[in-house]
Amino acid sequence: MTKLPPATRARAAALREKIEQANYAYYTQDDPDISDAEYDRLFRKLQELEAKYPALVADDSPTQRVGSVPLPEFESVRHDMPMLSLNNAFDENEIIAYDRRIREALKSEAEIEYAVEPKFDGLAVSLTYRSGVFALGATRGDGDSGENVTANLRTIRALPLRLSDAPELLEVRGEVLMFRRDFEALNEDQGARGEKIFANPRNAAAGSLRQLDSRITAMRRLAFFAYGIGAVRGGRVPDDLHSRQLDYLAHLRFPVARQRNVVSGVEGLLSYYRDVGATRQSLPFEIDGVVYKVDSLDAQRQLGFVSRAPRFAVAHKFPAQEEITRLLGIDVQVGRTGALTPVARLAPVKVGGVTVTNATLHNEDEIRRKDVRVGDHVIVRRAGDVIPEVVGVVMQRRQKNARAFSMPTRCPVCGSDVERPEGEAIARCTAGLFCPAQRKQALQHFVSRRAMDIEGLGEKLIDQLVDSGLVKTTADIFALKVDALAGLERMADKSASNVVAGISASKHTSLSRFIYALGVRNVGEQTAKDLASHYGKLDSLMETSEEELQTVADVGPVVAASVVKFFREPHNRKVIERLRETGVHWDEISGSTAKTGMLVGKTFVLTGTLPRMTRDEAKEHIEAAGGKVTGSVSKKTDYVVAGEQPGSKYIKARELGVALLDESGFLELLDRKS
Ligand code: IVH
Repeated sequence: MTKLPPATRARAAALREKIEQANYAYYTQDDPDISDAEYDRLFRKLQELEAKYPALVADDSPTQRVGSVPLPEFESVRHDMPMLSLNNAFDENEIIAYDRRIREALKSEAEIEYAVEPKFDGLAVSLTYRSGVFALGATRGDGDSGENVTANLRTIRALPLRLSDAPELLEVRGEVLMFRRDFEALNEDQGARGEKIFANPRNAAAGSLRQLDSRITAMRRLAFFAYGIGAVRGGRVPDDLHSRQLDYLAHLRFPVARQRNVVSGVEGLLSYYRDVGATRQSLPFEIDGVVYKVDSLDAQRQLGFVSRAPRFAVAHKFPAQEEITRLLGIDVQVGRTGALTPVARLAPVKVGGVTVTNATLHNEDEIRRKDVRVGDHVIVRRAGDVIPEVVGVVMQRRQKNARAFSMPTRCPVCGSDVERPEGEAIARCTAGLFCPAQRKQALQHFVSRRAMDIEGLGEKLIDQLVDSGLVKTTADIFALKVDALAGLERMADKSASNVVAGISASKHTSLSRFIYALGVRNVGEQTAKDLASHYGKLDSLMETSEEELQTVADVGPVVAASVVKFFREPHNRKVIERLRETGVHWDEISGSTAKTGMLVGKTFVLTGTLPRMTRDEAKEHIEAAGGKVTGSVSKKTDYVVAGEQPGSKYIKARELGVALLDESGFLELLDRKS
């Protein structure tokens, strides 16, 4: 073996310290202090040293965070102090009763001080440090003994492997979890490799922590938060307040929830619950409630435990975002562009206070990946305002007669062929506007606020108009008469005339709105604006080529191909002709902006409050001059217009050296350019 030169041990120690400092800054403080490249360089250097001098390798070296050879099974570990659970409370009355019980038991006249924290939705672990070195990590198991997952825990970068100035023995308790973005990336990766999809971050964290091969855990990006101290020997740890213990853990460089606080009385608890609840969706990880603990450790000891849970603490849960229910069937819906979307029909279930009977299944591949079958018990999730989705199957409850799903080969609405191009996830009905489902959706899009903006033509009315055969194409809308409308269900004469008035008022529009309203695939509002200002006239756009289209900023081959395809279709040309005949007209842009060269090709970002105009007005000015407004600053941004109290966009602009304008500078530019 190569002999170890005396200075080498010190060099390795210095490298380890730098690397762990970088881990702490990055994973615990969210505030990286060195670049990724620098980190990699330090890491490789240490790896080289350790390879050359194996005597240097130690369990607490950051190089050991990459995992090691698989275990045959996990050993069982007995917890020094049992790992308990928490009683749950679901409403304010239970919290009022909890606070009253505490005050009575402590015979306290004064308000109780509570340490309050998020309730992490992961899995509990116990970490034992001997003489400051991470020595043993275990899952909660049944509370008395758990599994030895030390090798896996060591891969978590946020978890300190060595503590400075710690007691001889210190047991830290906390939660292992996975951040949302890492969970999503993991599932994407799993899907791409045809591997198991995890239903939620908690399952992904549990599955990753309980891997016998710690090299797999190392790739899974787990996180950790400490929430308490277990056994302590041979050293001093704050023993008066729980909140001090958490501060002490933070001082030892453990990640501890930033959202922790100390509040008094039941009012304090309830307002904390509301505050955290309001920001829940914007946290980078999932929480399923908040935890209240009597802050005084003396009082905690006095209160003691009831069976397996402390009397001094309670978990105040948020409404669940996930429930289990039965999948009764899978319907297939047809969208505007013919996309077929499988939709789960569910036995009604309350999720987060709302009854859910339908949930999206996204597409055929997702169904296959999650192995969802009709008759299964499925996990339904509804988070915030997001559309409910089926995230997974409860496999233990699968019945023998559960039926696999396959996409129909014919459109469920019009019976035409369904096509799914190579490499695409979406199957489509090929009938275009001959398919009533697509026709309805296309009409809805046509009349919508950002398109032709026809008032009074809602979804129900469009359904009736299509079903009764009164409207087949968008042009038919403009031929509608009060009599015909009044003959429809639930349509009084008065509302019929209102609808006709609304239709008539919409006949005059802008070119960009008209292009957007046509519903060309891949042409959204912004592209419609870009096309309008480039071509100036609808006829020029209708006769253009894919090559010419690709000279328009932000138009690539996909958009170019759909535009040409759309206008080549005789049916579409005929509808446009008929629209013109019925009096629909738009302002063409004289001499396309490409020629007059005002702000064409220039990209603007607006930030802060402008003294004399609203942001929408500023945007209109820019767009009228052919420029474009985007939401974030990048190297491609030409100007940032900053008003009062500008935000981070201003700072970014300065960093990137993007031209900054105040309102008068902006007005000058408009003057100069027009
Ligand atoms: S304290 C004696 N604090 O909730 C009480 N637990 O239902 C020990 N949990 O197994 C737990 N966040 O996994 C505590 N801030 C927090 C927590 C928390 C999540 C979990 C923990 C425990 C379960 C109890």
